[in-house]
Amino acid sequence: MDNALQQLKRLPDVLLPWYDEHRRVLPWREEVSPYRTWVSEIMLQQTRVAAVLPYFQRFMAAFPTVEALAAADTEQLMKLWEGLGYYSRARNLQKAAQIVAQRGSFPDTYEEVMALPGIGDYTAGAILSIAFGQAVPAVDGNVLRVVSRITGSEDNILDTKVRSRFRTLMAHIMPTDRPGEFNQALMDLGATVCLPSGEPLCADCPARQFCTAHLQNRQKELPVRISKTKRRTEEKTVFLLLRGGEAALRQRPETGLLAGLWEYPHVDGTLEEPEAAAQLLTWGVTPHQWVKRLRFHHIFTHIRWDMTGYVVEVNGGGPDDWLWCDKEDRARRAVPAAFEGLTRELPQG
Ligand code: ADE
Repeated sequence: MDNALQQLKRLPDVLLPWYDEHRRVLPWREEVSPYRTWVSEIMLQQTRVAAVLPYFQRFMAAFPTVEALAAADTEQLMKLWEGLGYYSRARNLQKAAQIVAQRGSFPDTYEEVMALPGIGDYTAGAILSIAFGQAVPAVDGNVLRVVSRITGSEDNILDTKVRSRFRTLMAHIMPTDRPGEFNQALMDLGATVCLPSGEPLCADCPARQFCTAHLQNRQKELPVRISKTKRRTEEKTVFLLLRGGEAALRQRPETGLLAGLWEYPHVDGTLEEPEAAAQLLTWGVTPHQWVKRLRFHHIFTHIRWDMTGYVVEVNGGGPDDWLWCDKEDRARRAVPAAFEGLTRELPQG
């Protein structure tokens, strides 16, 4: 963290002169007001600069002030937004405009700006720094990428704790005399030089002399993005059925999860012993000794299996597609690690 801060402290001195020379000329930069900054930032949230330009101009012509937007006909507003997508942005803009018009002026504190519909910490930072000259960071995907590369951070930028740590770092290095330009310089650097995929244009980057990713040639590895996928949980009851040293296996279907691999017979849900015994009977096997009950789990990318395992000595043959395998036969068949909790209960002899 300290190292990262030392590296980042060098950024403003090289970034601002670079911005003075290379800044993109954009309508919301040429004439700045809280209203124009706010509308442009909302439009730019999920949309590229080139696509936003004509919309921004038409929007400002139709609704030149926050009062005009507050009083706008919603149909007209939606029509103007047509093609930009994410229409809730337009609805929130109008709701926020009504709040601002009511209070009489655009709010200028972080808490009040954040309280407006449709505004998160990035947009609040952009408005406060660009339109009010406050040294508040505006950390979006571009900035996370630039900071990860400069500092060589392998922290996951999709993690909210990491994002907030990066915000804190940026708050420490923001130049208080030109905060809005500093934030916009970072946006431009991320959009035109420190490109997300393929080769970033390091030769054109003002930070190349102290950028870890550049110096160590790790641009492609950084930033680290690991999405926490939402997993569903499934309960299973799995049977290690033993018959004279052999265990019952069956083959999974040729498609889908763990396709074609071998598995112990199982059913969905958690069965208590009497239900488990009934299940065995429907398969045509009769338990003669319940050896062990255990719980284990396995995590796939999108699913978590919570499993109850029964180790049971049985008689009978079971369905036709079961294979009773001795130790040698078992060793030839792939039983997924998901069932390791039961595999390790297999008799060793
Ligand atoms: N992307 C988001 N905000 C921006 C801004 N103010 N200028 C350029 N690109 C942006």
